[in-house]
Amino acid sequence: MKTIGVGLVGCGTVGSGLVRNLSEANRLLQQRLGVSLELRAAAVRDPSKQRADLPVSPVGDWKSVISNPAVQIVVELLGGTTESLEVAKAAFAAAKPLITANKALLAEKGSELIPLAQQARVPIYFEASVAGGIPVLKALREGLVANQLLGIHGIINGTCNYILSRMAEEGSDFADALRQAKELGYAEADDRLDVDGIDAAHKAAILCLLGYGFLPPFAKIPIEGIRKLEAQDVSFARQLGYVLKLLAVVRPVGPDRVEVRVAPTLIPARHPMGSIHGVFNAVSLVGNLSGPVQFTGRGAGPDATSSALLADLGEAARHLRDQSPGPVLSAGDGKRRLLEPGESVGRFYVRFEVRDQPGVLAQIAGIFGTEKIGISSVLQPEGHGADSVPLVFLLEPAKESALQKAVAAVQKLPLNRSPARILRVEDLA
Ligand code: NAP
Ligand code: HSE
Repeated sequence: MKTIGVGLVGCGTVGSGLVRNLSEANRLLQQRLGVSLELRAAAVRDPSKQRADLPVSPVGDWKSVISNPAVQIVVELLGGTTESLEVAKAAFAAAKPLITANKALLAEKGSELIPLAQQARVPIYFEASVAGGIPVLKALREGLVANQLLGIHGIINGTCNYILSRMAEEGSDFADALRQAKELGYAEADDRLDVDGIDAAHKAAILCLLGYGFLPPFAKIPIEGIRKLEAQDVSFARQLGYVLKLLAVVRPVGPDRVEVRVAPTLIPARHPMGSIHGVFNAVSLVGNLSGPVQFTGRGAGPDATSSALLADLGEAARHLRDQSPGPVLSAGDGKRRLLEPGESVGRFYVRFEVRDQPGVLAQIAGIFGTEKIGISSVLQPEGHGADSVPLVFLLEPAKESALQKAVAAVQKLPLNRSPARILRVEDLA
C-alpha cells in the first residue's frame, strides 16, 4: 500500500476538523482506494497553542512544510487571499498538488492562480470550497460532464441559512444566531464575508468556472447579503406563499452571457429548496440531458468540510500513486462574459412605505404600467401607523433597469415615505 505524506498549512476550525477525522477516514481510503495518508508536517500562526489530535509538532514557517521532502500533497487551510496565494505558488513551484477549501482564493485570485498551476502542471483540488460536504464540484466535473448546463442555483452559505432559519422559526435575534453559527464553526474567520453575501458569491464564481468555463471578474458580480433584511419582509413573503433565502444564481443568458448574482430572494415555500433549513445547503444543477439534479447537505462546519477535503486527498493520493497528472483546471475559452446587472430580467418584490390616503395604489400601479411591468399580487396590510403604510407588490418578469426606473419614479412622489425595499423573486420552475 502506497503511503502519501501530507503537509497542512493552517490548523484552525477546518484544519483541526480534518486532523480529528483523518485517522478513521484513512482506514476507509486504504480499503476503498488502496492508498494511505500520513500527516507529516503542519504550520500554524502560533505553534505554542495546544492542539488536540495533531500528531506532529506544528511550525510557524509554512515554507518549511512545503519544502519538506516527506510532504507530497499540500493542504492550504489558512483562508484569505494574500498569504494563501503565496502558499499555492510555493506548492506549484515544488510540483506538489494543492488541496484547498479557500473559495476566496479561487474566486478572487483564480485568474492568476489557474495559469500558474497549468504551467507547473500541478493539480488543484477544491471540492471543500463550495457547499461543504456536498460533492457538487465532482458532479459538475464528472457526472454532468456531457450536459450543457441550463442553470445553477443554490443556497450555498450555511451561516446565512442558519441565521435566517433561526430568525424565521424561533424568532431569534440576528446577532445571537450569528454568534451561534460562529460557535458551531460555520462562519468565516471574518463573518462579514458570510453575512454580506461575499462567501456565497465566491462559491457562485467557482460554480460559474466549472459550469460555464470562465471565472467572472469578482468585483462585477452583483452581491447583496442578509444584513438589511427586515422581519416584516420575511412575514410578507410568507403571506405571499414564499420564503426568503440567500440564493446564488448562475445561468446562461443568450449565447455568450452568464448571469451570476447573490441576493436574498423569495422562493416558493412549496419548492423543495424552501424547506432547506439551518446549516444545510441546496444546489440545483439543470443539465440539458439530466434535467434538474438537486443536492442537499451540510454546507459548513469542520466535519462536513473534512468530508470534501478527505475525498480530495484520496483522489490526489491515487493520482500520485498511479503517476497520473490529475484534473487540469482551465480558465476557460473566453467565449462567455458576465451579464451587465441592468440587463438582468426577473421577478421582483417591492415594498414601499407610503402615505395612507386614497389613490396611492392607483398612482403606483400606473407607474409600473408605464414601464410595462405587470403586477401579480399586492398586499396592503391594515393596522399600521396612521401616517404611513407598507404597500407590497409582487411583479411579473421585468428588466432590472425598468424596475429601477419605476421605483425611482415612485420614490419621487410626495406620498412616498422611505426608500423602497426591493427583493428578487425566483419561482425555480
Ligand atoms: P481559521 O479558523 O481562521 O484557521 C486559520 C488557520 O491558519 C489557523 O490555524 C492559523 O493559525 C493559521 N494561520 C494563519 N496565518 C498563518 C500563517 N501566516 N502561517 C501559518 N499558519 C497560519 O480558518 P478556518 O475557519 O479553519 O478556515 C480555513 C479555510 O477554510 C478558509 O479558506 C475558509 O473559507 C474555508 N472553509 C471554511 C468552512 C467552514 O465551515 N468554516 C467550510 C469550507 C471552507 P493559528 O491557529 O495559530 O491562529
Ligand atoms: N462560512 C461558510 C458558510 C463555510 O457558512 O457556508 C462553508 O463554506
